[in-house]
Amino acid sequence: MVQAHSRIYGSGFVTGEVLVPNERMTMICDTTSEWIRERSGIEQRYFVNEGTGTSDLALGAAHKALANAGWQASEVDYIVVATMTPDYYFPGVASLVQAKLGIGNVPSLDIRQQCSGFVYGLQVCDAFIRAGVAKKILFIGAEIHSGFMPFSKHGWDVVMGRSNEPVTQEERDWNSKFRHLTVLFGDAAGAICVGTTDDPKRGILGFALHSDGKDFESLYVPSAGFKYRPYYSEEHIREGRFVPVMEGRNVFKMAVTKMPEAVHEVLAKCELKLDDVNLLIPHQANLRISEGVQKQLKLGDDRIYNNIQRYGNTTAATIPIAYDECKKSGKVKQGDLVAFCGLGAGFHWGAALMRE
Ligand code: ACO
Repeated sequence: MVQAHSRIYGSGFVTGEVLVPNERMTMICDTTSEWIRERSGIEQRYFVNEGTGTSDLALGAAHKALANAGWQASEVDYIVVATMTPDYYFPGVASLVQAKLGIGNVPSLDIRQQCSGFVYGLQVCDAFIRAGVAKKILFIGAEIHSGFMPFSKHGWDVVMGRSNEPVTQEERDWNSKFRHLTVLFGDAAGAICVGTTDDPKRGILGFALHSDGKDFESLYVPSAGFKYRPYYSEEHIREGRFVPVMEGRNVFKMAVTKMPEAVHEVLAKCELKLDDVNLLIPHQANLRISEGVQKQLKLGDDRIYNNIQRYGNTTAATIPIAYDECKKSGKVKQGDLVAFCGLGAGFHWGAALMRE
């Protein structure tokens, strides 16, 4: 008898409401469209209007995934949300999504594994299904990064295309301190419906996940932590310590090394070979990182998917968005072997393997 395991029944995504091309970022800090495109591949991103929360984007993506799966919201028996940018410090986003969906008091869980949120969350969903804890899980990766960005109200009006009035030199200098980071991120949510199946030919096959906290300072937010008393202070705001600190080169090096390793590891665990993989969907952190992973794994262009050009890095949302695009365009077909991989703050990293 084949053991019940999990498979993806549907997917969907939404972005922030406002499309922001690179040119708008050049109006508020010292950067150029060429620098952003050449170093990261990014041409545009979407930001939410102020007032939209991560739970709102998560809800939009959830509705789309449920419709795609043909599931009623009332059938969902567990909600898992991966996010590093919740609406509030606490509670997390999952219970807000449960309430907004208007469904019964199903359990809901937040996980915070940043850019590895999708691969980690998928393992949680798969384990819940295999253990009989749940049968129909709504799993969402959602982020609003614009809240990290230290722009003034006028700076935001310029970014969002509501004003062409230049920012002051003082503001431009301040914004430029964070330019290596602010140009990379976008706001979006992607959702999938993970359900039980006993079809031996389809479903989630395995995982290779890891973490190493010794270099956490390569990518972290210094303020708003309970190591400080109070956990948030005027000094932190004045010094811009609410903006993530990122040692880009170290993150880059880790990503191009650890993601290919994890793909090899999960393939070995599942007794499959790289040649068997039809498509790799990597976390979209930087097009150069994806190209590095592609090179390490010696994959042709048709066996890796990238869309960072259009959305920027949306952390836990990048993989479900890319998966949804691949499904809808026919790039992922039934029977295909699909690998997912990611690396992010923590550091956490890993890969997952699935037969569509
Ligand atoms: N525009 C123009 N110039 C810039 C910008 C910008 N936006 N940002 C940095 N520069 C300058 C730097 O000041 C530096 O100038 P200098 O040579 O005069 O000192 C020069 O460009 C090179 O800077 P580097 O940081 O060395 O540039 P690098 O080629 O490493 O690219 C980047 C930077 C794009 C950030 C890259 O390191 C990267 O993508 N790293 C990984 C990022 C990532 O994946 N983050 C993880 C996800 S986040 C998460 O998990 C939550």
